[in-house]
Amino acid sequence: MITSAVVPVAGMGTRMLPATKSQPKEMLPVGKKPIVQYVVEELVAAGIEEILFVTGRGKHSIENHFDFDHQLMRLLRETGKEDLLEELEFERFTTHFFYTRQRLQRGLGDAILCAERFAGDAPIAVALGDSIIGMSTSSCVRRMIEAADNDRNVCIIAVEEVDPKLVSHYGVIQPKGSAAGALFEIADLVEKPAVNEAPSNLVIAGRYILPPRIFEAIRRTEPGANGEIQLTDAIRLLREYGCRLLALRLPPGERRYDIGNFESYFETFIEFALADREFGPRLRERVKRLL
Ligand code: UTP
Repeated sequence: MITSAVVPVAGMGTRMLPATKSQPKEMLPVGKKPIVQYVVEELVAAGIEEILFVTGRGKHSIENHFDFDHQLMRLLRETGKEDLLEELEFERFTTHFFYTRQRLQRGLGDAILCAERFAGDAPIAVALGDSIIGMSTSSCVRRMIEAADNDRNVCIIAVEEVDPKLVSHYGVIQPKGSAAGALFEIADLVEKPAVNEAPSNLVIAGRYILPPRIFEAIRRTEPGANGEIQLTDAIRLLREYGCRLLALRLPPGERRYDIGNFESYFETFIEFALADREFGPRLRERVKRLL
């Protein structure tokens, strides 16, 4: 079983300036929690025991967030705010956290290469630190691990159907055959294609199972879209090593919230805030009045 995961959080987040000037975009809140906490909760629910964050300059707050804060705990107890202690329950995850730095932001493929020693010779799960799947803890990574079924030569990518006009923002897959069912084979994939050249409207949803050969493939990958070393391009090369490429479709009702730009951040925040049990109902009334 796959028990190790990599969460790349080293990106500069330039599309979200000035919010990301001195804080990681992965720590921006969605509702009551920072984005990366949703990601870690999904991994923990999938049985992941070790998580490596690939970080960069200015990302210390991610380490602090997953650390014990004894001073804060004591303060809450001493000031009669014990009820808030349950908001810190995630600190008790038995998961081991590791951190390494991507020294130059050369793209997602390059960030994953920083995990080579951590992964050793085992397949890994990858979850982008700026993408939430579903509104309650998603079973996406768990289902991907089950689908991999201990096969060391399979790469599985979570995919989601989007409006064909939006495909140029994402990695897009070309299914082999009709793409019926939840799990199907991938013939090819391309990063950020032009709308009229995209092979489908099935886009990569920020979750991957990667086989050990991925590191060799990344090293052979030339810079691609945006001049970055693209993970999508390295995955294409995996076919040359005899690896199977599979796509796992997000289940109906579950979607990927990509927090890489303000438009989608605003939409995501509003959706999660409206669903909040405590504040959602009043917010709904307030929003109705504003409209
Ligand atoms: P993005 O593609 O959104 O890149 O990253 P970015 O650099 O953060 O954002 P912009 O384009 O400057 O606004 C997707 C995920 O991959 C990580 C990011 O932290 C994010 O979680 N990433 C990206 C890295 O870890 N390293 C990189 O070099 C690029």
